[in-house]
Amino acid sequence: MVFLRLILAFLIYNLSVFCSVPIYSDSSKISKEFLDIAKSPEIFDWMVSIRRKIHENPELGYEEFETSKLIRAELDKMGIKYRYPVAVTGIVGYIGSGEAPFVALRADMDALPMQELVEWEHKSKTRGKMHACGHDGHVAMLLGAARILQEHRQSLMGTIVLVFQPAEEGGGGASKILDSGILENVKGIFGLHVSSDLPIGKVSSRSGPLLAANGFFEAVISGKGGHAAIPHHSIDPILAASNIIVSLQHLVSREADPLDSQVVTVAKFQGGSAFNVIPDSVVIGGSFRTFSKETFAHLKQRIEEVIIGQAAVQRCNATVNFLEKDFCPPTVNDEALHKHFQNVAGDLLGISNVEDMKPLMGSEDFSVYQEAIPGYYYILGMKNETKGKFPSPHSPYFEINEDAFPFGAALQASLTASYLLEIQSENPQVKDDYHEEL
Ligand SMILES: *[C@@H]1O[C@H](CO)[C@@H](O)[C@H](O)[C@H]1NC(C)=O
Ligand SMILES: *[C@@H]1O[C@H](CO)[C@@H](O)[C@H](O)[C@H]1NC(C)=O
Repeated sequence: MVFLRLILAFLIYNLSVFCSVPIYSDSSKISKEFLDIAKSPEIFDWMVSIRRKIHENPELGYEEFETSKLIRAELDKMGIKYRYPVAVTGIVGYIGSGEAPFVALRADMDALPMQELVEWEHKSKTRGKMHACGHDGHVAMLLGAARILQEHRQSLMGTIVLVFQPAEEGGGGASKILDSGILENVKGIFGLHVSSDLPIGKVSSRSGPLLAANGFFEAVISGKGGHAAIPHHSIDPILAASNIIVSLQHLVSREADPLDSQVVTVAKFQGGSAFNVIPDSVVIGGSFRTFSKETFAHLKQRIEEVIIGQAAVQRCNATVNFLEKDFCPPTVNDEALHKHFQNVAGDLLGISNVEDMKPLMGSEDFSVYQEAIPGYYYILGMKNETKGKFPSPHSPYFEINEDAFPFGAALQASLTASYLLEIQSENPQVKDDYHEEL
């Protein structure tokens, strides 16, 4: 049996060496064909209608029940098998041979707790909730990619795994999916985000660190309340908190390597309710960001030391709480996948439309997958000035230019289909692991 498999592996290896030329010249044809399909009115209008339905009914992290139901109904119609529930509302679908290698695509499903201020036919029907970060579009494009891939399932050299993830905007959706073990044998994972700044028809990304690690902290500064007219009978937590905030700003300006970008922002300051009363305590909170795990751990430790030390200087006590479940590692793109992305996106859009991106201090929980699986995250342009200005994500006026959907759907489909080809031609023995299952 072992011997037979060796002969088989040898045959496949030689075959793939001889076939490698046609396979590679094929993959540019694949991309173009996929883009034509994605642009066809049938697929385009369908993606738009899905996105608008999701937009009308935004759901927050781990509450994406209707969104999840809609996705499953579409997967059922296409005959795509899936597992549900994964991470409460998440869905993981499978297209192709059902065998290794496995390559994954991820879309996030959750909305934000904010009121939509755009007046249009498909405005959010739920007060105080809105898809203001494009996740409705990300889902529509992943379904678009799924439809293209399902039409080509016979020619896929392995299995494409569709990850519909809950709770990207805090809540640790990616960790929950990963912890379920469902992505154990996945060899690569791709994700995208729409951008209001990048022109439509363009994409951008980079190899290595792309987005920052993000952590949150909250501290209670306790003093002793009293009358504003007799401060010497009180211990003033307002002044202590003010000094703490100033000291925290020295962490980046005086302690950080200027070439290792970091941010500390205090975004919350709550204390006191009267003009003439010194309160008992103050609550402050904020976010800190870095591009490496080591710097992150160091900054976290210094934030705690500065808060407690500076509170003591002012005779106050402080407790610091880090909201670890919402921590997010840096988004670091795999170098080999970057080359693959440049080839595929170059074929699909023209190489002049594949831009190098500067790292951003924003963060994204896609990074959690990248700690376990080689991953690649990129930005999809949707700016079209003749259509007007598209405000940035998390604005109550945020809008999506749906014209970008065919590019996103075709790219996601091409990236994975051609990556399966690449894995098979470089590592024909992978085929030998046919018993490997997710
Ligand atoms: C700080 O904590 C110490 C020890 O628990 C306590 O004795 C002191 O009264 C506290 N000070 C304030 C301002 O809360
Ligand atoms: C930009 O918007 C205009 C006006 O709607 C449209 O005619 C044009 O095709 C759009 N361009 C792209 C690349 O989508």
